[in-house]
Amino acid sequence: MTILKKGQLIRHTDGGTKKDEYVMRLISTKDLKDVVALENYVYDLLPNKQVFFVDSYEEMLDDMKQGAKIIGVYNKSKDLIAYRYIGFPGKVSKNLGNDINMPKEELPKVAHLETTVVHPEYRGNSLQSLTLEQTIPMVKDFGYSHLLCTVSPQNIYSLYNIMKNGLRVKALKKKYGTAQDGSDGLWRFILHRNLNPKTTRRTSEFLSLPIIDIEPQIQLITKGFVGLWLSREAQLLNYVRFEDNLAY
Ligand SMILES: CC(C)(COP(=O)(O)OP(=O)(O)OC[C@H]1O[C@@H](n2cnc3c(N)ncnc32)[C@H](O)[C@@H]1OP(=O)(O)O)[C@@H](O)C(=O)NCCC(=O)NCCS
Repeated sequence: MTILKKGQLIRHTDGGTKKDEYVMRLISTKDLKDVVALENYVYDLLPNKQVFFVDSYEEMLDDMKQGAKIIGVYNKSKDLIAYRYIGFPGKVSKNLGNDINMPKEELPKVAHLETTVVHPEYRGNSLQSLTLEQTIPMVKDFGYSHLLCTVSPQNIYSLYNIMKNGLRVKALKKKYGTAQDGSDGLWRFILHRNLNPKTTRRTSEFLSLPIIDIEPQIQLITKGFVGLWLSREAQLLNYVRFEDNLAY
């Protein structure tokens, strides 16, 4: 069992805060039931269910057999308190590279940041960011060059952490629907980071929009703007246009 990182954290309980310790490691399929239990626990407590699309045990198991990884974070009592699920979609249609018109030859180099959850008692320890920091060198070592994920415009905590780690908004559309045109889906930003950028890119224009204003943001992205950083308190997404608009 390879330990990726160890550290201290704060646990928030009704009785106040306590110091605790964590160990971060890759989990195996035999621990998957604990992942699903934590996922369901966190989902049941969510005030807004729109922000989280639940993965089933079977989907995750199949995906792990195809190479997907799950980073688990365990407390001192060896309970799973957070996880990050990373998928490698290959050339299938669900590859998020298709949503941002990525060149076909880049699609096999895409890694997906799938679900992440942190137990409510352990939030505020930056575990979403810490697991992402471990993910980046790991997927680069595996030979992947692009990180992609979806985030709900209503999930300010997750959006902030993802953008803080260099992923940029490249699309805004409905995802996870069952209708052919996806119209019954959930609004999601599609975020992307090239892990091997070729050039330093110069920006030409700048605009800020409230993250909940869907249509104006879609129009901006259609004109070639990219969401670069989030003002968390003001809930504004700051968009720029790059001079070399099409570079990946
Ligand atoms: C998104 C999530 C993983 C972030 O957890 P995290 O890494 O512990 O968050 P951070 O350490 O960055 O928290 C920063 C601050 O926001 C607060 N915060 C984080 N998530 C919060 C939430 N869901 N509700 C209220 N406050 C939250 C933290 O308490 C902390 O506050 P502080 O600065 O006053 O201490 C966590 O909120 C979560 O599990 N959400 C439900 C599942 C989800 O939406 N996952 C992402 C989509 S797959």
